Parts: sequence; structure tokens; C-alpha cells
Amino acid sequence: MPLVNTTEMFKKAYEGGYAIGAFNVNNMEIIQGITEAAKELNAPLILQVSAGARKYANHTYLVKLVEAALQVTDLPIALHLDHGDSFELCKDCIDGGFTSVMIDGSHHSYEENVELTKKVVEYAHARGVTVEAELGRLAGVEDDVNVSAEDASYTNPDQVVDFVTRTGCDSLAIAIGTSHGAFKFKPGQKPQLRFDILEEIERRLPGFPIVLHGASSVIPEFVEMINANGGKMDHAIGIPEDMLRQAAKSAVCKINIDSDLRLAMTATIRKYFAENPSHFDPRQYLAPARKAIKDMVARKITNVLGCDGKA
Ligand code: G3H
Ligand code: 13P
Ligand code: ZN
Repeated sequence: MPLVNTTEMFKKAYEGGYAIGAFNVNNMEIIQGITEAAKELNAPLILQVSAGARKYANHTYLVKLVEAALQVTDLPIALHLDHGDSFELCKDCIDGGFTSVMIDGSHHSYEENVELTKKVVEYAHARGVTVEAELGRLAGVEDDVNVSAEDASYTNPDQVVDFVTRTGCDSLAIAIGTSHGAFKFKPGQKPQLRFDILEEIERRLPGFPIVLHGASSVIPEFVEMINANGGKMDHAIGIPEDMLRQAAKSAVCKINIDSDLRLAMTATIRKYFAENPSHFDPRQYLAPARKAIKDMVARKITNVLGCDGKA
């Protein structure tokens, strides 16, 4: 089957009370690990590429690797641009085979965000590509943008109907307390999500797919494995899995996960070298790293997203 956009996936996810995992991809092993898990569990997938991933691996390499995964798995897979920050970047990805793009205008004023999103939607929809937009600001780091907790702000439910109506976007990323990276909360701070805001948005936009960014759980087992093998990641903390499970049952149809994959991969490679200091064949440490990605994605699909068997 060819790459799909997110329309059908989100419709089924909304109606079925589950969410699709959107996993960030940067190289072959990550793509293989994610898609092997999804294949075994018969789960639909969103593979997403950031501007940084595109710079690192090259657009064409990533598209071809995802096409290979599609051929091998025959799953419904959407290839999505993560955090597109300009019309030009979105256009490049649409012209270059992506089936979904995010235009992240959340760093602009409300009116500028509307204008930019609308422009991307017009271009994308004419080519069968779906568009995710963002309202509200998450804390954390993505590419070169570092939003401090003070500058982050929750999505205002009073704006969502106007924003979605005027832009025509297909899904909306909201800020309810998640944040990017492995350090989502200050030491001693209790992880909390504003489910009241999510419910209010769901009430105002019935049937409309909502997206959660910054949704890694920063699983302590992997942080401990990194620290036990020469790393230093004090106070790494993420969103508890039970909160994400609750979100997946609501209007949230897409849950973004990157940091948990990075942690699993890095922890596994650190452990490998601690145990095998003289090895130098990349296949020897990349094979267990790929398996760690696969296990992490399987855990997300069954434990958090509930999208197993929904391909
Ligand atoms: O939200 C951002 C993703 O984790 C991608 O991160 O921009 O470092 O590739 P990146
Ligand atoms: P995490 O850093 O929590 O994995 O979030 C990833 C993300 O939102 C990608 O857009
Ligand atoms: Zn994000």
C-alpha cells in the first residue's frame, strides 16, 4: 500500500478511543525498530521527520528508507514533517513525498499563526496532504528553539474554534503541560497534565483530532542504565504512562514520542560498550540498539496508545 495521509487513521482513532504513535526517525535502525514492532502488533504508524533529522540524514535517504519499510511491512504509514517552521519547508516536504506536515506557528502571534497555517493548508490540501497546526506553547527544546517553562503557555480553549475554522487544519497540537526532551519537570515537581483544558477543547471541537507533543515518559530504567554506564542524566523525568493512556482514550489521536527512543538507544549502546570495550563493528552495537527501539515501540503501542490490531 502507498503512504497514507492522516485522515482515515485519525477518524478511526477518534471513534475507537485510541491514539496513533508518531515516532521521530533519523536513521535506518530507528525506522527498522519502529516498523518491526508495528508490523508484529499490526498497528498503524506515523513516522515523523524534524528539520534536524532532514539536515542529519538527507530528505531523500529518509523518504527512501520509509518507502522500504512500507514495502516490507505493508502497514498504513504516514510520513509526517515534525515542527515545520515555514511555508517553504512544508512545501519542500509536500513536493518531496510527505503525506502530512506540521506547521508550527506557535511561536508567532495568533494572527500570524492563522495566516501561516492557512497558507500551508491551501498548498497541502490541493495535493492530498494533511496538516497539523499548533496553538499554545510547550516548554522544552526542539531543534534550535528552546522555550523556557516561563514562556510556555497552555492552549486557550476560547481560541480553538476560530483557529480551526479559519485555517482549515486537520489536527491541532495543544499545550496542556507536556514538554519536549528528557527533563520535563523541575526536581521535586509533580508531573501534571491539564485534562480540564483537554476536555474543554474536546467539547468545543467535537470529533476533531488533537495531538500531544512532548509525550515521552522518560522511563527510569533507561535513565538508570545510562547513569550506570558512564552517563549523567540527573532529574530526567517524563509524563507518566497512565496519564498518556488516559489521553489516548480521549480526542487525542496522535502522541509524539522521540526522547524515549533516544534514551532506549543510547542506554543500550552505553551498556554494550561497558560490557564489550574492545568491540568496534557498528553492527554489534546497532543491532541491540535497534531491538531496544523495537521493544520501546511495542511497549508504547500496547501500554499507552492502544492501537495494536488497528492497522
Ligand atoms: O520535538 C522535537 C523532536 O524531538 C525532534 O527533535 O529537532 O532534535 O530532531 P530534533
Ligand atoms: P518527546 O521529547 O517527549 O519525545 O517529544 C517528541 C515530540 O514532541 C516530537 O515532536
Ligand atoms: Zn514536538
